[in-house]
Amino acid sequence: METAADQRSDLFKGIEMGIGTWSWGDRLIWDFGTDYDSNDIRQAFRSAIDFGFRFFDTAEVYGQGRSEEYLGEFAQETNEKLIIATKFMPYPWRLGSQAIKKALRASLVRLKIDRIALYQMHQAIPPVKIETWMGQMAEVVHEGLVEAVGVSNYDINQTMAAQNALLRQGLRLAATQMEYSLLARQVERNGILELCKEQGIRLIAYSPLTMGVLTGKYDREHPLKGFRGTKYSTSYLEKVKPLINSLKKVGIEHEGKTPAQVALNWVICKGSIPIPGEKTPRQLEENTGALGWRLTEDEVGTLDEISANLKI
Ligand SMILES: NC(=O)c1ccc[n+]([C@@H]2O[C@H](COP(=O)([O-])OP(=O)(O)OC[C@H]3O[C@@H](n4cnc5c(N)ncnc54)[C@H](OP(=O)(O)O)[C@@H]3O)[C@@H](O)[C@H]2O)c1
Repeated sequence: METAADQRSDLFKGIEMGIGTWSWGDRLIWDFGTDYDSNDIRQAFRSAIDFGFRFFDTAEVYGQGRSEEYLGEFAQETNEKLIIATKFMPYPWRLGSQAIKKALRASLVRLKIDRIALYQMHQAIPPVKIETWMGQMAEVVHEGLVEAVGVSNYDINQTMAAQNALLRQGLRLAATQMEYSLLARQVERNGILELCKEQGIRLIAYSPLTMGVLTGKYDREHPLKGFRGTKYSTSYLEKVKPLINSLKKVGIEHEGKTPAQVALNWVICKGSIPIPGEKTPRQLEENTGALGWRLTEDEVGTLDEISANLKI
């Protein structure tokens, strides 16, 4: 008998990793225009295409639309068929019955395409009910403007509410996008990871490098700045050192893989699709080294244990 998991959307067939584009054009959190600019991200995009990446994640709010615009501009420069995921932010003032369609049309213009592969609810924000949003999502799918529906930052009940509402419309929830990394393992405890397996929903892991922390390049002498510096203070960086050291150690066992490559491989081993953000072709190239090999079960177990024992 076919189970819910068997009915998984084949949108992600063959996709092990995608590219996150939050930093493409965003000044507020990522300082776009200072140590990296449009040339760097254009080159990163080109490298991504050359390395075979096709899945790109953006959102209408990233860089106030600039991320979608850059992605749309770069996508014009390749003949490859891309899988573009973007997101709708359910601001509390977006109350009308055409709210999704209106925002979606604006995203399509910025992205210079006529159909979104995966349209995701960015968050669950009141007052509009999830069922109402899913009704609007179903409309845009039936009109051919969207191929598949996803959610993000939804808890287990909200995810099931979205899934059930879509099932009533003859659709299924294709994906949920949640923070997931060796330093953010809430999805393992709150039931989301298990639910995704049961229901055939793909888990897209955002911030899989914990906004750069898991690359190992930040420490007391090289602290993070701005928003990231507040979120991940130097004392936090000190506390996660044992994990960074074991990422390095495991990497040595795999022909010198870097902490970033091992951390991304760990997410893949958990059955999720990581979407690391890259600002430059060098970062893109390094992260590509997360593919084509696998950590052993023992290594995953060791990393699990070290991360679980951190006092963060
Ligand atoms: N749904 C949501 O609510 C949500 C929330 C957050 C993110 N996302 C999505 O997930 C994507 C990825 O998450 P993220 O960008 O927050 O964090 P991330 O992927 O964990 O970290 C990305 C940052 O790490 C650094 N980095 C990446 N690869 C590196 C390498 N090989 N060597 C050295 N540094 C490297 C870069 O910043 P520096 O060089 O400045 O260190 C890069 O911008 C986003 O772009 C977005 O698409 C979604």
